[in-house]
Amino acid sequence: MQEQLYKSKSEKDTIKIGFEFAKEVKLGDVVALIGELGAGKTEFIKGLCQALSVEQLVTSPTFTIMNCYQGKINNQEVSIYHIDLYRINKVSELDEIGFDECIHSKNDIKLVEWADKAGNRLSKVDYKVRFELDEDNENVRQISIMNEFVR
Ligand SMILES: Nc1ncnc2c1ncn2[C@@H]1O[C@H](COP(=O)(O)OP(=O)(O)O)[C@@H](O)[C@H]1O
Ligand SMILES: [Mg+2]
Repeated sequence: MQEQLYKSKSEKDTIKIGFEFAKEVKLGDVVALIGELGAGKTEFIKGLCQALSVEQLVTSPTFTIMNCYQGKINNQEVSIYHIDLYRINKVSELDEIGFDECIHSKNDIKLVEWADKAGNRLSKVDYKVRFELDEDNENVRQISIMNEFVR
């Protein structure tokens, strides 16, 4: 397991960290994003999607649970699923959105906010991105990117 640590001092920084991270992402990857409300998960995904040439508006799919964007990796068209589990109350609700099938499909990329809510249902994770707020500065975030190596 490999860990990269970043200190973000602004929303812009977080977007840039997401943008840079896109270079590591491969087809089929599941990226789990963990951190409290307002921690910067969606901003990070905005940068990541920008780097993957997504033209659609990237927003937290808090009410829809899942958004799908079209992007590109090495000039190849790819679907990017942006999932937000914040409103999930029971793990069984994941069945309604076809979560398992989605997580194991190989021809797209999955970005899962509040991934910790999926418990052991999130059986495949390639990267874990953790966001932590700062006690002293409301614009500072600690971001840790861990490569899970369970391919
Ligand atoms: N360093 C930072 N990184 C990311 N967002 C920040 C930062 N500083 C302040 N913010 C603000 O915090 C909020 C983060 O929102 P968002 O990315 O939607 O969080 P989450 O998806 O984790 O709930 C935004 O309103 C953003 O402007
Ligand atoms: Mg969000």
